[in-house]
Amino acid sequence: MASPPPSVTPGTMQNTPDEHPRTRARLVVLVSGSGTNLQALLDAIAADPQGYGAQVVAVGADRDNIAGLERAAKAGLPTFVVKVKDHATREEWDRVLAATIAAYAPDLVVSAGFMKIVGKEFLALFGGRTVNTHPALLPSFPGAHGVRDALAYGAKVTGCTVHFVDDGVDTGPIIAQGVVEVRSEDDEAALHERIKEVERTLLVEVVGRLARHGYRIEGRKVLIP
Ligand code: GAR
Repeated sequence: MASPPPSVTPGTMQNTPDEHPRTRARLVVLVSGSGTNLQALLDAIAADPQGYGAQVVAVGADRDNIAGLERAAKAGLPTFVVKVKDHATREEWDRVLAATIAAYAPDLVVSAGFMKIVGKEFLALFGGRTVNTHPALLPSFPGAHGVRDALAYGAKVTGCTVHFVDDGVDTGPIIAQGVVEVRSEDDEAALHERIKEVERTLLVEVVGRLARHGYRIEGRKVLIP
């Protein structure tokens, strides 16, 4: 599949004045589940389409029949599903995923509850412009069970981290974090629900700032003018 060139160079999105955005940053959002973070982005954009500074141009997933895809369809957005099991190798899956996303020419890719680790081909195209949200205060409790692991460890505070994706598991440069207190009566579901309340607000805020102001990544530091 031909891959249209990205409209900005990774990590060097140019400033767009808040008051008069010339163009809205193009977002492809990736989901694997309920998609409440996606919904928060869609709601923020619907509330102020120009002022927010970004638009969702497509929503992708690694599985069918999830609420995240239904939310996208309800919003009238194109969707795509690229499943690992439909490909001979993980590398092939990664290549097809990257090419499918590239066809939408995103400025930023937002991994909003996407439960897959991306590979080399994906990072070659979207490294430095893929934002992930994780339900723990990285570098503590990376991986697929950030909420459960913080609870099991006995942490008194946890939260969420919005970061750029690199070739590790939840190791990329941190953009912003939100703190949530762990309560003695918490189980995984209750704690995750309180984290997600903070996370949705943080993700919307961070993506909007990146889109409107541009950013630079210097080592582990993310600088938003
Ligand atoms: C979010 O809490 C996100 O941090 C988490 O999945 C949830 C998705 O919720 N992601 C991970 O755990 C990735 N390691 P949502 O589908 O309602 O947006």
